[in-house]
Amino acid sequence: MNSSSVAIITFLLLFIKCSSRPLYPLPSNDEKTKMPLQTFRPFNVAHRGSNGELPEETGPSYLRAIEEGTDFIETDILASKDGVLMCHHDVILDDTTDVLDHKEFLDRKRTYEVERANMTGLFIFDFTLEELKTLRAKQRYSFRDQQYNGKFPIITFEEYIQIAVNASRVVGIYPEIKSPVLMNQHVKWPKGKRFEDVFVEILKKYGYKGSYRSKEWLKKPCFIQSFAPSSLLHIHNKTDLPKIFLIDDVDVRTQDTNQTYQEITSDHYFNFIKEYVVGIGPWKDTIVPVKDNYIQKPTDLIARAHAHNLQVHPYTFRNENQFLHFNFCEDPYMEYDYWINTMEVDGLFTDFTGSLHRYQEWTSPRSAEERDANRLLQKISSMIVKFEFPIRT
Ligand SMILES: *[C@@H]1O[C@H](CO)[C@@H](O)[C@H](O)[C@H]1NC(C)=O
Ligand SMILES: *[C@@H]1O[C@H](CO)[C@@H](O)[C@H](O)[C@H]1NC(C)=O
Ligand SMILES: *[C@@H]1O[C@H](CO)[C@@H](O)[C@H](O)[C@H]1NC(C)=O
Ligand SMILES: *[C@@H]1O[C@H](CO)[C@@H](O)[C@H](O)[C@H]1NC(C)=O
Repeated sequence: MNSSSVAIITFLLLFIKCSSRPLYPLPSNDEKTKMPLQTFRPFNVAHRGSNGELPEETGPSYLRAIEEGTDFIETDILASKDGVLMCHHDVILDDTTDVLDHKEFLDRKRTYEVERANMTGLFIFDFTLEELKTLRAKQRYSFRDQQYNGKFPIITFEEYIQIAVNASRVVGIYPEIKSPVLMNQHVKWPKGKRFEDVFVEILKKYGYKGSYRSKEWLKKPCFIQSFAPSSLLHIHNKTDLPKIFLIDDVDVRTQDTNQTYQEITSDHYFNFIKEYVVGIGPWKDTIVPVKDNYIQKPTDLIARAHAHNLQVHPYTFRNENQFLHFNFCEDPYMEYDYWINTMEVDGLFTDFTGSLHRYQEWTSPRSAEERDANRLLQKISSMIVKFEFPIRT
């Protein structure tokens, strides 16, 4: 080997040595030096926080999800009577808060038409922010940990955003414009605004902007999701943040445009909606139908969505036996393997963000990105060595 090739190899080896240190800095609150969002494997979306462990959509549920390695914390946005945007999934408070223990509120029970059916209960938009703050969240499912019931308050959209912004690494948000038809019917919005306008204003207030994977987006990643196509169209030119069109069960019509599942999953519709959204969020059992609790032959939904350059983020992955189809042998990792490696989805909504994170770290570790870069350099360096030998001999 001549001295110049030694110098090249020495330089490469030094470079390899240096680059084997983490490419990202240690956790820090400084936006510029925070560990970035991973973008090399499907997104881990913490559905209502780590709600398999803690009451859904509460501060501790989101903090736990961040601690467990989620990429995005997910939430549903509804509104209080006084027009404050709140994180809450159900339009009624009965099943996930202690409202029925509050005698002072029991006369608020109402029946309203919600998505073409009558629903009875205590509706979130009949309560002011101050009243909502006196309630405490509780677990929805009796088979999940009940010890945190009655401990944590409902949070506002702004409090939720602050939790993400406060995290020591970049954590994305994934808020849903929930039940917009109902919110626009029952809540008075200022100066002729709509629920969707106020929703976008709050995101702007906290600096959320930019198209998918743009520099601004990577600093504060956000997907806006909705089941209502007219809400996604309405905000189209109010924010360039990426939007996800949620798709309900095969027999449910859209709440705003009264379209069928068949209509909104047609190639014709994908061709239209792809101007407004970067992806779809279907219920997983509509992508791969289920019979007698066994998954059947997959539909072509993912292939067709991908052909239209639409991402697919199905919902909802849950560890418990009652949610796992028999093909997966009661093993949530088998289910993740199937959806990530066979179905090739781009993101997953999960109630157990920690499980998905461990699965992904074992099968596709974050350090692999960096290892791949090192392998490439080593290959180049070995090629130079091979190339130099014949010259010398
Ligand atoms: C809801 O209840 C009202 C009053 O009973 C009735 O007039 C209306 O048709 C019901 N709506 C639906 C969708 O069932
Ligand atoms: C953000 O972090 C600061 C400093 O640790 C803390 O005082 C504040 O309560 C946090 N806010 C939220 C919403 O988590
Ligand atoms: C947004 O789009 C609507 C119709 O699609 C149009 O009337 C309006 O002027 C647009 N606004 C901006 C700011 O581009
Ligand atoms: C939705 O469409 C169906 C089928 O065309 C129709 O029967 C139904 O009345 C429509 N509902 C509404 C609320 O427009």
